[in-house]
Amino acid sequence: MSRPTVFIARRVFPEIVEGLRAHVDVRTHDGDAPLSQPELIAALQGCAGVFITTSEKIDETLLAACPALKAVCTMAVGYNNIDVAACTAHGVVATNAPDVLTETTADFGFALMMATARRITESERYLREGRWNHWGYDMFAGGDVHGATLGVLGMGRIGQAIAKRGHGGFGMKVAYHNRSHLAPEVEAALGATWMSLPDLLRSVDHLVIVTPYSAATHHLIGADQLALMKPSATLTNIARGGVVDDAALAQALAKGTIAAAGLDVFEGEPTVHPALLALRNVVLTPHIASASVPTRRAMAGLAAANLVAALGAGPRAGKPPTILNPEVLARAGAPGA
Ligand code: DGY
Repeated sequence: MSRPTVFIARRVFPEIVEGLRAHVDVRTHDGDAPLSQPELIAALQGCAGVFITTSEKIDETLLAACPALKAVCTMAVGYNNIDVAACTAHGVVATNAPDVLTETTADFGFALMMATARRITESERYLREGRWNHWGYDMFAGGDVHGATLGVLGMGRIGQAIAKRGHGGFGMKVAYHNRSHLAPEVEAALGATWMSLPDLLRSVDHLVIVTPYSAATHHLIGADQLALMKPSATLTNIARGGVVDDAALAQALAKGTIAAAGLDVFEGEPTVHPALLALRNVVLTPHIASASVPTRRAMAGLAAANLVAALGAGPRAGKPPTILNPEVLARAGAPGA
């Protein structure tokens, strides 16, 4: 039986590519920049599977143009770039990469929140520019993290890992907003209290946003919501661009509606709203919350394991570990089997 061919849409760890070659034929795009949609469609002709990252868009147009495709596997936990319903309609397995990045991403979210509250990058810039010539009682004085109220918007796995750090490590009060409430014993362990979104915004000192992006969460935080926050509050976004209205945020930061923001994700990234770039009170990082070497390796490894299994090969043939649309397999039997 001929082996299925898969396409790896971005440069990735060489050992992951080699591991895939043990089970399937592999074609690669070795660049760091994503292919355009027409380039991706052309590259996928004859491919049964594709390994993607956060930026390749898998939609109806692509699926209709790539009839051989049977599996789409992203190395990210977020999958707003994949139209899962369209994949299901085309009989294409879709998988993401949850769990393996939870702690690393929570570490970064917490670090970004602390850097924002304590003005770390702003003060470093000042020092590097040679402007530091005295000690001042209020020089780069920011907000405290310990003992403050942490707000978590989106209390999934990563939100809970951030709450654990705040509650257990820094004695923070934890408030959260989520569609569903946590079980009482989980709330108790995290010292967390559910609040409506307006109450959360009014109460917290440091808001960390971890909610997935969808039509329902588009601009969930805009001018009206920012206006509810304390002038001393900070906002950190490690979820996805689009959950926050970046133009409204830039205005709020410029006017002092809130004190500062830490952003790892942006609307239209890698382009960043020019008004944000001009502000001193915002910490900007290039979508790296999950970027520790071991975690990125684990994310890529999970995507590869999903791809091989979805195509009916390897030790878990027909059972991709983190499938988003199991009904495809239930309906058709294991693809490639
Ligand atoms: C994810 O996995 O969704 C992250 O945003 C990628 O780092």
